[in-house]
Amino acid sequence: MEGPSTSTSSGGRFFFGVLFTISELLLFGSVSLFVYWVIWHDTGFAWSKNRNEQFNLHAILMIIGFVFLNGQAMLVYKLLHRCRKIYVKIIHCIIFVCSISAITIGMVAGIQAQHNMAPGATIRHFYSLHSWVGLVAIGLFALQFVAGFVSFLILLCCDKATANFRARLLPTHVTFGLIIYSLAVIASISGLLQVARSRLSGKEGKPNYKEFEEPTIIINAVGCCLIGLAILLPYIIRNCGQRSRHSPNFHISH
Ligand code: HEM
Repeated sequence: MEGPSTSTSSGGRFFFGVLFTISELLLFGSVSLFVYWVIWHDTGFAWSKNRNEQFNLHAILMIIGFVFLNGQAMLVYKLLHRCRKIYVKIIHCIIFVCSISAITIGMVAGIQAQHNMAPGATIRHFYSLHSWVGLVAIGLFALQFVAGFVSFLILLCCDKATANFRARLLPTHVTFGLIIYSLAVIASISGLLQVARSRLSGKEGKPNYKEFEEPTIIINAVGCCLIGLAILLPYIIRNCGQRSRHSPNFHISH
């Protein structure tokens, strides 16, 4: 009997079509809501002496690189499962390269923004839980990229000889991809809380997070989009497009 986890039944295809649409809405929603918040309720984005503006740049580049592009790179595998594997791998890899570029620039912006303090104030790096989770996510992401690049693209040069090895590595690659995605969501949510703590403190004329007005609601909505993605993406990646072990094409498709 076929459940929703098989891509072959039309009910299953419809179900996953709905899940894909919701995840795209959440991906675009998290980026556009945060941009709206920064432009309408905060000081905007800039690589400048203004600490807040530069942290906003850090935040949006991290959300785009780690959550939006990373999410698209994973979904592309499921969306294009009928295309030739090599083309899908190349698209997957190109999106990852864009994602790495955004993350690298975002991280430099974040570290440099810590230096834009009032004269005489002590500069502290990596003191927060947010930065610790972020560093773990970045470290694992870098390892995953190198391992994935070597095993799935370079080893393609000797496709037949390495096919078994690559097939055995695939579940680990997928699991780590999902773990890293969850860590990126945790890092982003804790980053949102850092921002809420300082910019919505209610002091010196700043809006108050506790007053539950538009700035609070938008920050919370971005967080909810991210949590939705952390739930939906692993479900799609684990269940969509999988064929039954008894299907005649099972071994070919893996
Ligand atoms: C996966 C995404 C993210 C990662 C990996 C990450 C990583 C980091 C790291 C490593 C630092 C420490 C920089 C230093 O001390 O020199 C940092 C600082 C900071 N980040 Fe992020 N970040 C992410 C997303 C965000 C988001 C979405 C926001 C805001 C909405 C944000 C806001 C901040 C702020 C305000 C700081 C300075 C305060 C602190 O060190 O905690 N970050 N981030």
